Amino acid sequence: MKPSVLVTKRIYPEAIEYLKQHCQVDYVDNDEGLTAEQFHKRIRGKQGVVAQLMNRFSADVIDSLDGLKIIANVAVGFDNIDVPAATRKGILVTNTPDVLTETTADFAFALLLAAARRVVEAHQFVHNGEWRKWSIDLLVGQDVHHRTLGIFGMGRIGQAVARRGRGFSMRILYHDAVRAPEAVEQELKLEFVSKEQLLRESDFVSLHVPLLDSTRKLIGEPELTLMKKTAILVNTSRGPVADEAAVAKALKEGWIAAAGLDVFEREPEVNPVLLQLQNVVVAPHIASASVDTRREMSMLAARNAVEALEGRRPITLLNPAVWDSLSARSGV
Ligand code: GLV
Repeated sequence: MKPSVLVTKRIYPEAIEYLKQHCQVDYVDNDEGLTAEQFHKRIRGKQGVVAQLMNRFSADVIDSLDGLKIIANVAVGFDNIDVPAATRKGILVTNTPDVLTETTADFAFALLLAAARRVVEAHQFVHNGEWRKWSIDLLVGQDVHHRTLGIFGMGRIGQAVARRGRGFSMRILYHDAVRAPEAVEQELKLEFVSKEQLLRESDFVSLHVPLLDSTRKLIGEPELTLMKKTAILVNTSRGPVADEAAVAKALKEGWIAAAGLDVFEREPEVNPVLLQLQNVVVAPHIASASVDTRREMSMLAARNAVEALEGRRPITLLNPAVWDSLSARSGV
């Protein structure tokens, strides 16, 4: 009998077709997803689940999932899953890295440029019929080229953003818990600096760290007060990496000049102060949302699920210890 998989929300049809070739698929074919109660009913008896960010796999949920072999997350971030709890329970967990790196970096840069050059304000200005004459300081913003870009988190996406910064002749500072390989530092002409130096010297601060206990509220009031008054903050990582109330206060009171925000602490809620400000460009968590990339993310999650359910190592496995112990048990 084919293994059975729950797909908790709508994904690209190609991925569903692929899953159907290999599994029995219980597909929640809508964008609402399931309530906790519905989820508990439908996950029963399944060997795999293709999940999305809003599906929370806490230790308690994971402990209740008997017979589940894989959680295939359709996202690179996996803060919605207690991976150590899944590892203890012997459940494989996968994410979708690499396929979204360049697309996410494009969007971080789009927010950076939009906030710096006031693209959304300009669009609204023309739309509202306010454009009657040209004037020397109409909608003047901040230059991007030759300025200093500070990147928190020099992983795949951080590096892709740095590459874009180099294309704009920017000086690139970065801070991370782990220093990037020397070859990467040299290729991208990166300067590894302290958190404080990055905040003090950067014209743009872009966040590319995963959400961990150590990165929660990485940017709060103390950090925002260190930033330049002309600085622009960009967040395409996770909302809780920045203290949203503090960011709103900093933008309102002019501690920093502007922000481009794709992620928020309690999505889809956005701090109402942010929505009243002209110097903030907001987006609904769409940094990886290009047609090709969202399709590839769907396909990678589906492939990960099928690999695991057919007894092969999933492609982008987050907890190899589970695979090692499964292989040891089956004597592979
Ligand atoms: C999106 O936020 C992702 O983690 O892929």
